[in-house]
Amino acid sequence: MFLRTLAFLVIASVSALAQITYDSAHNATPIGGTWCSGSQNVVTGSGFANPANLTFVYPKTTGISFSFTETGFYEVARYRMSGNGSSPQCIIAVVNWAHGTFTYNLNGSITLYPFGDGYQQIQSPCAAKSSFIETYNDTELYQSWQIFRDPTDGPKLHLFQFDGAPLPPMFYNSETPSMLPTRPLRNVSSPSPSSSVSKRAVPNSAPPIQRWEAAGFIAVGALLGGALLI
Ligand SMILES: *[C@@H]1O[C@H](CO)[C@@H](O)[C@H](O)[C@H]1NC(C)=O
Ligand SMILES: *[C@@H]1O[C@H](CO)[C@@H](O)[C@H](O)[C@H]1NC(C)=O
Ligand SMILES: *[C@@H]1O[C@H](CO)[C@@H](O)[C@H](O)[C@H]1NC(C)=O
Ligand SMILES: *[C@@H]1O[C@H](CO)[C@@H](O)[C@H](O)[C@H]1NC(C)=O
Ligand SMILES: *[C@@H]1O[C@H](CO)[C@@H](O)[C@H](O)[C@H]1NC(C)=O
Repeated sequence: MFLRTLAFLVIASVSALAQITYDSAHNATPIGGTWCSGSQNVVTGSGFANPANLTFVYPKTTGISFSFTETGFYEVARYRMSGNGSSPQCIIAVVNWAHGTFTYNLNGSITLYPFGDGYQQIQSPCAAKSSFIETYNDTELYQSWQIFRDPTDGPKLHLFQFDGAPLPPMFYNSETPSMLPTRPLRNVSSPSPSSSVSKRAVPNSAPPIQRWEAAGFIAVGALLGGALLI
């Protein structure tokens, strides 16, 4: 069942890809490869996440990275911080990783379907529970995407979230995508595994008291002035 769904997704995405035209003003290159924001210290692949033991290698600076294959797989790595206007010492840090399959939709959007083995660590010094790890399994919709060729920086990927809000532009880090194997990389036992994951990873602690979603976190960032946050 899963394989059949996967095969369908791959075929659907390849045929949709065939309709995309590449020119220098729009979609200057195919989306396949690895894309990284800012100083490009956040890069998908083995240098960021170890899903088997639910750990991260913390990058030097915050940022986001997306990788796509021409055969319909994606991986995302995010390291973000968010301030708190009333309590500047209460900075929240989120490290997030997920991978799965993606489709190009007929209306120009892209949907990311995670395998279910994604996870994230939240560090929130002012919260009752200051650090925890939880499963991250959100399907993400990007309303549109564009690749421009910047005269100095080369191709840049612009992804727009479900509500049209842009993500920070991402540079073309490598043509060959830097990705972990494109299959589930840890066993996730139950449909709502956040609490069991959390208990294993952070012994003697309660289940997560917060849920963080990519879009929600960016919305906080937008309020605070996005440039600071990535
Ligand atoms: C987790 O796995 C990675 C990759 O195998 C390894 O380098 C790292 O030391 C492990 N960390 C822990 C805490 O086990
Ligand atoms: C900001 O910090 C205060 C405590 O100083 C807390 O009550 C509030 O929930 C925090 N806001 C956010 C968005 O984290
Ligand atoms: C575009 O298509 C996707 C997938 O079918 C759908 O989830 C999304 O709501 C659509 N967006 C708009 C603006 O119609
Ligand atoms: C999941 O568990 C099964 C049975 O214990 C094992 O064969 C398989 O390798 C595990 N998969 C991963 C991704 O760890
Ligand atoms: C991940 O989300 C999908 C879609 O909502 C769901 O079908 C799947 O069971 C979830 N996987 C896990 C491990 O929770």
